[in-house]
Amino acid sequence: MKASVRAACVLTAIALAVLASYLTTLNIRTHTKLTDIIKNTQHLTGDANRGEYVANMGGCIACHTDLENGGKPLAGGGALETPFGTFYSPNITSDTTAGIGSWTESDFIIALSVGIAPNGSHYYPAFPYTSYSVLTPQDILDLKTWLDTVQPVESSAPTHDIAWPISIRSTLLLWKALFFEPTREVDIGNRGEYLVNGPTHCAECHSSRNWLGGLSKRTLSGNKRGPEGHAVPAITLADLGDWTKEDMELFLEVGITPAGDFAGGHMTDVIEYSTGRLTAEDRSAIADYLLSESNRP
Ligand code: HEC
Ligand code: HEC
Repeated sequence: MKASVRAACVLTAIALAVLASYLTTLNIRTHTKLTDIIKNTQHLTGDANRGEYVANMGGCIACHTDLENGGKPLAGGGALETPFGTFYSPNITSDTTAGIGSWTESDFIIALSVGIAPNGSHYYPAFPYTSYSVLTPQDILDLKTWLDTVQPVESSAPTHDIAWPISIRSTLLLWKALFFEPTREVDIGNRGEYLVNGPTHCAECHSSRNWLGGLSKRTLSGNKRGPEGHAVPAITLADLGDWTKEDMELFLEVGITPAGDFAGGHMTDVIEYSTGRLTAEDRSAIADYLLSESNRP
């Protein structure tokens, strides 16, 4: 065997071994996460009113409603343009065929915390389960209880318009092995840290992504190619230099910056459907976290 062929074989074997170890790690972490969360949900009961609030924290309505065409709430069809193509949010109303009305509690927990569908296939990270994975068992259960009360709508969203090979769902297993940490933890006791890094998923837009769409560890450091190709500003403590806590609270409530400008782009939806609907205490907690030393990547 030629030396170059032998070297290629050795490199391929090493690459496969590395890949196998990543897949095994993903498998173990997924299993650990699910065992843990399902056990911790067992003696809880969901509260629909609180669930509606959790949906506001998560911005579910903005993404799962076709806002541009006046679609019914949560009936899906909202287009999400990304460098990989256009994703369409599915119908998550309580309709038993077009929506998720037939889902069990554990179907829902598994989808949100590890990004796996009831048929075992993997979800695209356009659905930010990468952030929702840290949701508390109570928040997930409340959310499910509220979703069960949402008016059923019988329409289905268009299929995603994305390029090969990512159009093949099984490639997501690789993506997850490389970039998804199901057992990631945040300090639940720190409300601002929990909201920012979990439900309100600020990093999904405000952090950069590599060419495969994996999120940078330099969290909230800005993203040159955000949704719809627009740049998303950096919002780490250093970038927020002269923002006061009151500036941040006002911005998250009504979208006015300290310079007197109105927020544009996707931040408008975030404010209208998420941060603007939160309690003043929660906006205060987000502001405290963003303006703390913890927000320095
Ligand atoms: C940024 C947009 C976005 C946000 C925000 C979002 N989703 Fe989604 N969601 C999607 C997309 C896109 C998919 C489809 C993913 C796929 O096809 O793999 C999806 C899929 C789902 C599914 C699976 C549906 C099915 O039929 O298999 C559920 C359940 C779901 N989302 C619930 C939620 C909930 C609950 C929230 C709020 C906590 C939420 N989503 C927030 C974009 C979003
Ligand atoms: C769906 C994508 C998206 C999400 C999620 C998102 N943002 Fe934004 N954000 C943007 C965009 C885009 C802008 C730029 C708006 C503009 O051009 O006016 C922005 C602007 C901002 C600004 C203004 C920064 C400046 O220097 O002017 C702040 C502060 C901010 N976002 C905070 C947050 C926080 C806190 C969260 C989580 C609660 C969040 N954003 C979630 C897209 C997003």
